[in-house]
Amino acid sequence: MKTTIITAGLIGVAGVSMAQAAQLDLICSADVVICEKMVEVYEAKTGTEVNMVRLSSGEAYAKIRAESSNPKTDIWWAGSGDPHLQAAAEKLTMEYKSPLLTEQRSWSQKQAESADFRTVGVYSGVLGWGYNTDIFAKKGLDEPKCWADLLNPALVGEVQIANPASSGTAYTALASLVQLMGEDEAFDYLKKLNDNVSQYTKSGSAPVKAAARGETGLGIVFMHDAIAQTVEGFPIKAVAPCEGTGYEIGSMSIVEGARHVDEAKAWYDWALSAEAQSLMKEANSFQLPSNPGAAVADEVPDFAQINLIDYDFAAYGAPERRKELLDRWNAEIGAIAN
Ligand code: F6P
Repeated sequence: MKTTIITAGLIGVAGVSMAQAAQLDLICSADVVICEKMVEVYEAKTGTEVNMVRLSSGEAYAKIRAESSNPKTDIWWAGSGDPHLQAAAEKLTMEYKSPLLTEQRSWSQKQAESADFRTVGVYSGVLGWGYNTDIFAKKGLDEPKCWADLLNPALVGEVQIANPASSGTAYTALASLVQLMGEDEAFDYLKKLNDNVSQYTKSGSAPVKAAARGETGLGIVFMHDAIAQTVEGFPIKAVAPCEGTGYEIGSMSIVEGARHVDEAKAWYDWALSAEAQSLMKEANSFQLPSNPGAAVADEVPDFAQINLIDYDFAAYGAPERRKELLDRWNAEIGAIAN
């Protein structure tokens, strides 16, 4: 007679040994559409059960740090590079050299080398904004081409940007402005900008999603997140600021002390493959993939045409610098935020 037994959540038939399904606990800090697509394809391909939680980059860093004595996360895929670099410097993430590392674009490999291989670049994206062309036309406003244009008093209540503590996008904006203008000047700028800001959101792309719905005129975001809204059919135009702008090296890191380290390495290797990175195009994620063999959508901004600053990732991903800038933002901008 056969008896059915239940062990550790698995139903098996007595006398037949069943292998426990491989499991992976993943934090995803990209757009939820690509997060879900990556998980779906990976589960179907490998049979690994992936428990995914979507968190903004700063929140993901904070969770990994808070859980460092008893990690609940195995791998952190995507999110802007600065918090990944901070986690690496604090040895919250582990050294791993994927066999696919040398295939990646130079900025991805450089990101890995600069962090003793505790993180790696998986895509790159340029900071800018997206504005609602209908709202601007109705208000009789010209295209906002430059950072200076965002201070126009006619834009009061029409600008959104995320909070740099939770969002990697907003931290990239803060660090970019500091590098572009000088620190005191950047904080002066942000204080003036605050007059026009209606909301500091938790997630980096939320401001342009709000602009797409007509809830605000403009969202300061990565350009690819604005372009995704245009492609969805919303009246959003992406802009690269005329004075210059920063960019991200979206990254990936394995958590030090991960419970499922072999599964984490398997995901890591797959996520660096051309096959996995080609999913970005399908999911309307218009960052530039790190693997040069991956499909690149026509909508991905042409970096060569944009006035990019020489973003100092080592300096602005360093724990003391990131903490110092976030503390100053809280004291000077968070304190006066509407
Ligand atoms: O929406 C995708 C994306 O812009 C990524 O390119 C980026 O790494 C991430 O979001 C940043 O999200 P957040 O600002 O919420 O940390």
